Amino acid sequence: MTKGKKGRGRFIVLEGIDGAGTTTQLARIVDWLQDRGELAHGTHEPSEGPIGALIRQVLRGRLVATPSGKKVEPVDPAAVALLFAADRLDHVHNEIAPLLDQGWHVICDRYVVSSFAYQGLETDLRFVRQINEKAITPDLTIFLKVRPEVAMARIEASRIGRESFEKLNIQKKVAAAYEELLAQYRGGRVVTIDGEQAVSSVTQAVRNAVEDLFR
Ligand code: TYD
Repeated sequence: MTKGKKGRGRFIVLEGIDGAGTTTQLARIVDWLQDRGELAHGTHEPSEGPIGALIRQVLRGRLVATPSGKKVEPVDPAAVALLFAADRLDHVHNEIAPLLDQGWHVICDRYVVSSFAYQGLETDLRFVRQINEKAITPDLTIFLKVRPEVAMARIEASRIGRESFEKLNIQKKVAAAYEELLAQYRGGRVVTIDGEQAVSSVTQAVRNAVEDLFR
């Protein structure tokens, strides 16, 4: 395996619907790379930067004053798409690209395909693509494929109080969008892994994909 220390590091992205297991696999793959003596950095989007913090706030909705009192309304979807794209450019500029230049492998939980899949549902996909044009292309995007029902069951087992019916409907749309988008995605290598296998089997499959990339 090529050492990250020599030359530019590799940029690897994990994608999937909510509950697909990207966060778990990210931690495992970073640990594995580090155990092998590689320089590996795990990160995620929305990022920990100022725009990422703003996005978390925005996703909770905004308070709007009405004659009958204040209510929570969603933020305009195109504005949300711009925030994700802005967060991404800031994340790349300040964290991802400098580390890659120093030879670190960077593994990121969600990246451009998340914006295509989620924001593309609510706003013009062409616009979402356009505003993400300046985001660097990953060397490898790993898609953890999990059926929406299975992902929902995982989320419900780990978190309390979700409007499951509505959420399942959204998850189904996002899952369908991922399938379609990845089939036409031309931004570097894409590998789809069955995310419904045992966690350790998924980890093994992710490792194999990373080893293939390094080969
Ligand atoms: P998520 O990774 O699920 O964060 P957490 O595990 O902390 O809840 O991301 C939060 C949500 O943001 C998730 O539902 C997917 C969504 N998202 C987008 O809609 N567009 C994007 O570009 C990204 C990166 C995330």
